Amino acid sequence: MSTYPRIASLKTHDAFTARLLELGLDLPCDADVASGPDSPLADRFDVDGLTVGNRFCILPMEGWDGTTDGKPTDLTHRRWKNFGISGAKWMWGGEAVAVRHDGRANPNQLLINENNLSSIADLRQTLLDAHAERFDSTDDLLVGLQLTHSGRFARPNRKDQPEPRAAQRNPALDRRLGIKDDSGLITDDELSTLVDDFIRASVMAEKIGFQFVDVKHCHGYLGHELLSGVDRSGKYGGSFENRTRFLRDIVQGIRSATRNMKIGVRVSVFDFLPYVPGDDRIGVPDADGDPRLAFGGDENALGIDLSQPGQFMELLQSLGIEMVCTTCGSPYYNPHIQRPAYFPPSDGYQPPEDPLVGVTRQIQATAALKRMHPSMTLVGSGYTYLQDWLPGVAQAVVRQGMVDSVGLGRMVLSYPELPDDVLTGQAWQRKKVCRTFSDCTTAPRNGMVSGCYPLDRFYKDRPERDQLKQIKQASAES
Ligand SMILES: Cc1cc2nc3c(=O)[nH]c(=O)nc-3n(C[C@H](O)[C@H](O)[C@H](O)COP(=O)(O)O)c2cc1C
Ligand code: SF4
Repeated sequence: MSTYPRIASLKTHDAFTARLLELGLDLPCDADVASGPDSPLADRFDVDGLTVGNRFCILPMEGWDGTTDGKPTDLTHRRWKNFGISGAKWMWGGEAVAVRHDGRANPNQLLINENNLSSIADLRQTLLDAHAERFDSTDDLLVGLQLTHSGRFARPNRKDQPEPRAAQRNPALDRRLGIKDDSGLITDDELSTLVDDFIRASVMAEKIGFQFVDVKHCHGYLGHELLSGVDRSGKYGGSFENRTRFLRDIVQGIRSATRNMKIGVRVSVFDFLPYVPGDDRIGVPDADGDPRLAFGGDENALGIDLSQPGQFMELLQSLGIEMVCTTCGSPYYNPHIQRPAYFPPSDGYQPPEDPLVGVTRQIQATAALKRMHPSMTLVGSGYTYLQDWLPGVAQAVVRQGMVDSVGLGRMVLSYPELPDDVLTGQAWQRKKVCRTFSDCTTAPRNGMVSGCYPLDRFYKDRPERDQLKQIKQASAES
């Protein structure tokens, strides 16, 4: 059990800022959060010729709840409906959608192909209808689709059977996935075909009305692993130019095959070594970890070096990409940096730092990139752990130009109306605030659909809740 003070115990602005000071963290937080059309978080802006009605963005979150052939189910529709009623005006991709079967992260991940296209179109429509019903207009709503290949973390056929298509060897991670030789590495020819799959998926996404596609480069999945592919030989590995060829080829293809499909990139702007449970299950760096394979990590891969990510941003700019969503690390091997939580997922480790440190690290890395590339539009991530102090920090970072839009992940699973409540000055619904119990991560790790089991009545009433309780109890006793 973590020993850091819980956010819920920091009851006043002074108590919260005192804790930041105690930790030596530089994180602004406004004491008063404004509401109404003139508030900083209600500020409209344009990106790539499109208007976005406010400064809240919904981050992509999959639910492990599609059909086995990759179509959305009622559970998927419910989640996207909640995204629509949130009041946020930017939807960064909805959830990761695989561009082909072998790239699915689980057998229930959505899959974009001709057979599934009309059902994915219906899913988008669900979000739009929900938004229009509550807020009248969708004119200032920006909706994209996140496209992915899961690479080393692919499990397309069975939840308990990894079928990795890694970009290169990585001792610490290979061990976890049973990779023993080079035979399963994705080949250059396969990557060239995959480039075509991303282009084909983008053409389809444009056809059904998505305004942009996110060519996913984060969380240890294929695009991200290629960025650190220093040991890979051939045209997709080694030099920075080669490691970004996959992205460049996709972008060039989308530009020539679509009418006007906009492109965004969600990127892990820094990575650390993989972590494992140490004494008392507190996370420690894996002794087999190789710092060279952490894109944006410093020489030990326990800190940040933004020189390569900065170069990557320059590349995006030169490719005419204006929309970037920053995130970091991976939920598989260093979740404490990626989604700071008080209670780790059942297969994880106890946080080795106060989760506020992880939140601040992501926010400050984003701010540094924004300073280096002021004309790019950045969406930040990792704010949920701030809990009751999320609105104050969100307003402060937007007001100070540290980020353009505040991305919300777990918080909208438990408290979907948060953006609207903040923007309209409604009462803060404390009981809905995500306390980072991590059940939405623990459930899918154990073969169940994802959702907010502790706080969302709909999931509370599902039979999986009891199963989850038992799993968590067993993990606490082990
Ligand atoms: C259940 C769950 C599913 C997620 N699925 C995706 C996904 O499909 N694509 C993605 O880029 N990130 C995914 N993420 C990461 C989130 O987008 C986000 O980066 C992370 O939760 C940190 O933000 P937060 O602190 O607001 O939760 C997922 C996170 C959770 C909790
Ligand atoms: S299960 Fe609910 S409370 Fe727990 S982390 Fe997920 S959204 Fe937050």
